[in-house]
Formats: sequence, structure tokens, C-alpha cells
Amino acid sequence: MPILLIKLTHFIILNLNTNYSFNVKKKRPEEEYEKVSDYFKGDVLNHYATSKNMIRIQQKITDRTLELLNLKSRSVLILDAGCGPGFAGIYLKKMGYNIVALDLIAEFLYFYEINDINPINSDMCFSPFKPNIFDAIISISALQWIYRDINNKVMHFMLVNLFKSFFRILKPNCKVVIQFYPKNKEIMEQIGKIVVEHTDFKGQFIIDNPTNHKKRKIFLLLNKEP
Ligand SMILES: C[S@@+](CC[C@H](N)C(=O)[O-])C[C@H]1O[C@@H](n2cnc3c(N)ncnc32)[C@H](O)[C@@H]1O
Repeated sequence: MPILLIKLTHFIILNLNTNYSFNVKKKRPEEEYEKVSDYFKGDVLNHYATSKNMIRIQQKITDRTLELLNLKSRSVLILDAGCGPGFAGIYLKKMGYNIVALDLIAEFLYFYEINDINPINSDMCFSPFKPNIFDAIISISALQWIYRDINNKVMHFMLVNLFKSFFRILKPNCKVVIQFYPKNKEIMEQIGKIVVEHTDFKGQFIIDNPTNHKKRKIFLLLNKEP
């Protein structure tokens, strides 16, 4: 599988990679709905939560996320931020990892067994956890709902909070992996800039299948160095 790595350095954030750019033409739900809860409700929410195809796709992304996390043991605590109905969280729990699953939309958390997983209804930009408790944080297909317009000051504020909060609750020497669907390279550049300016994370973007717009998957890998 072709892979493109883009390190988050001061040089790169200004000019991600002169040879690589993309612009997704097709409108995504987050462009048509201002709030994620306006989109995920009623039939749309139920359809998403019970779709076998979606489970398959999201579990594949979770496998890749695990590969990037490169955890040495399963006796670790992972935060699944923007967990939805638990495709990643439940899958990881079955593998033996300990999971806290957090989502803004309470109805998604009804799909969890409360004894299996720890579902929390909260905004991941304001995570309600004490510092240094997670061994890893994952977020799958959620970040595009938080940040999709580089001129929007509220989105900027939420994103700064998100990264500061992830940095605070993650243990030193541990990683965050965020898979998401940015519209273009400029959004990624801006995200990289915010990470570098507001946290001490070291990291990089990883783009699987960069030239195939159907198969392209974009990950942000962040490391909290001790
Ligand atoms: C496309 S779904 C993905 C759900 C799940 N991660 C998966 O892989 O199927 C996006 C999820 O992000 C959640 N989300 C969006 N913004 C959020 C925020 N600020 N805090 C917590 N969850 C959020 C939504 O409620 C929704 O469940």
C-alpha cells in the first residue's frame, strides 16, 4: 500500500508538501449540517449504528490505528474519542484492551453494554478526565465535525482545546491517533500549525493510498514525548 508521511515541523506546517495536494469535491455531511447532532439523529443514527458495511470499514481503520499506536501490551487504557456506536471501542475491548468511550451524542452510547465499556456523554474538546491517565487516545472519523473551516474562530478555539486536552490526559511517552476526512491540504496544514503552536506533541500525518481518492485514509499521529 502506498503511504505518504508528513512530519509536523515548523517548515512542514507552512508548506505541507509541494508535490502533494488534494481537494475533495463531493459534499460531506459535516458541510451540510452545522451541528453533528443535527445529522446523527433518528433513522440516520440508527442506520449508521447498525450498518454491517460501516462496522467492517471502521474496524479496518481501527486495525490500522492499532498498528500506528504500536502498543506493547493489552493491559492499557484507551480513550475512544467520538466513539459513536462503538465500532472501534467494542472491537478493541474484545481484543482485551480497556476502553473509555466518549461521544457528544447520548443516543450512540445506548449501543454499549455499560459493564463492558465505560461510555461517557461529553464533548471531546473538553474531556472530563484528570491528567496523565490514558495510555493511548484514538479518534476515528470524527475530527472533520470539529474542524472544517480555517476561517471559523469557534472551530479554531475548539481545536486548540481538543489538542491541549488530549495532551493533558495522555500519559507521557504515549500516542494519539486521529483518523479523519479533511477536505483539502489547507485544513491539514492549519491543524498541524495548531498542534505545533499550542502543544508539545511531536507528530506527523500519515496518508495511506494518497493518490487514490476512494481509498485514501488520513491519520494524524501524535506522540507525547517525556
Ligand atoms: C462518523 S461518526 C464516527 C463514530 C465512530 N468513531 C466510528 O468509527 O464509527 C462521528 C462521531 O463523532 C462524534 N463527535 C463529533 N464531534 C464530537 C465532539 N466534539 N465530542 C465528542 N464526539 C463528537 C459524533 O457524535 C459521532 O458519533
